[in-house]
Amino acid sequence: MFVDRVLSGMRPTGALHLGHYHGVLKNWVELQSEFECYFFVADWHALTTHYDAPEVIGEHAWDMVIDWLACGVDPSQTTLFIQSRVPQHAELHLLLSMITPLGWLERVPTYKDQQEKLSDKDLSTYGFLGYPLLQSADILIYRANRVPVGEDQVPHIEFTREIARRFNHVYGREPGFEAKAEAAVKKLGAKRAKIYRELRTKFQEQGDTAAVESARALLEATQNLSLGDRERLFGYLEGGGKMILTEPQALLTKASKMPGIDGQKMSKSYNNTISLREDEASIVKKIRTMPTDPARIKRSDAGDPEKCPVWQLHQVYSDEPRKLWVQEGCRSAGIGCLECTQPVIDSVLAELAPIRVRAQRYVEDPALVKSIIADGCEKAQQLAEETMREVRAVMGLKYA
Ligand code: TRP
Ligand code: SF4
Repeated sequence: MFVDRVLSGMRPTGALHLGHYHGVLKNWVELQSEFECYFFVADWHALTTHYDAPEVIGEHAWDMVIDWLACGVDPSQTTLFIQSRVPQHAELHLLLSMITPLGWLERVPTYKDQQEKLSDKDLSTYGFLGYPLLQSADILIYRANRVPVGEDQVPHIEFTREIARRFNHVYGREPGFEAKAEAAVKKLGAKRAKIYRELRTKFQEQGDTAAVESARALLEATQNLSLGDRERLFGYLEGGGKMILTEPQALLTKASKMPGIDGQKMSKSYNNTISLREDEASIVKKIRTMPTDPARIKRSDAGDPEKCPVWQLHQVYSDEPRKLWVQEGCRSAGIGCLECTQPVIDSVLAELAPIRVRAQRYVEDPALVKSIIADGCEKAQQLAEETMREVRAVMGLKYA
């Protein structure tokens, strides 16, 4: 059976915090049992914005991998690797750059946004402009069809789809493609050929994308097709040529509701984070000194949870009875803020305790972490090289 292939990357820019855990890592852990997953340290991506801070990248990379493992990302189920250790990404990036119109890159929304946001840095660089294309190479090189990303990254996936389509259009035409595809349809056998043709017509005449999905499933389930015929039939479905690169879909991750200790979204740039391996005393202190509803000056003053960041944490961590306890106790001054904060502290500590224990095992055994990554890099390289052989060949780079 065909299992969807999932790929995602994370930049190594500092210790991971509860926002990463709730927003990304819990999701990765769920995906890994369902799909074939590839997760990687996007160290070249980090250099596109942090080119002036090379010293932090390597160190953060290892810490980040330890955080992943500590959160339950399981190297026996997923492939974990470091981008720069699979140089094929760079080769594909270069080759794709040949067919990438400048205007497409300039129009990617993050390009202008980030330049404005990170105005203290000079981001009018070639590397920064090309960063969505590097991301496309990351995805296309593994023929990943699902990419878990946040809302802000969706345009990058859309861009990747356009690049894949353009590449297939330019390089996917083999001489006599139509005739070969028709011959391959016949090889499906009468019954399947009929269904294939119907689905193809449905898509081409009515743009029915569900029909393409069904036809793909049909091809996946057909046993005795040669690799070439299979690819031709995929390509023929959508009218174009052979599908050399696969168009990915964004797997939209729900925006994390994890609030920081000031009530804004938890983020390193707001300086409101609780990191995954932070020591307990520091966590207790941070939560205990969180701002609460300013109307509660004295213990006897009633308050409104809607005006309080601690309430937001209860929404993440507390069950219904406890939330009711907060609502009633706060509005009637029946409970004090310290009392209200304690269950949140307990929940955060309970959540992080097993993560800290697991992390410790890896901290004490750096060789284990290195070997997990070495295995992952090797597996990634093999898969990447398969795609590259084909890409080089269709682009005329055949010297064997
Ligand atoms: N650009 C992503 C980010 O900044 C990280 C990333 C790099 C990525 N390559 C990727 C994510 C490929 C998904 C797929 O968060
Ligand atoms: Fe916030 Fe709880 Fe204090 Fe109300 S009682 S202000 S919800 S900490």
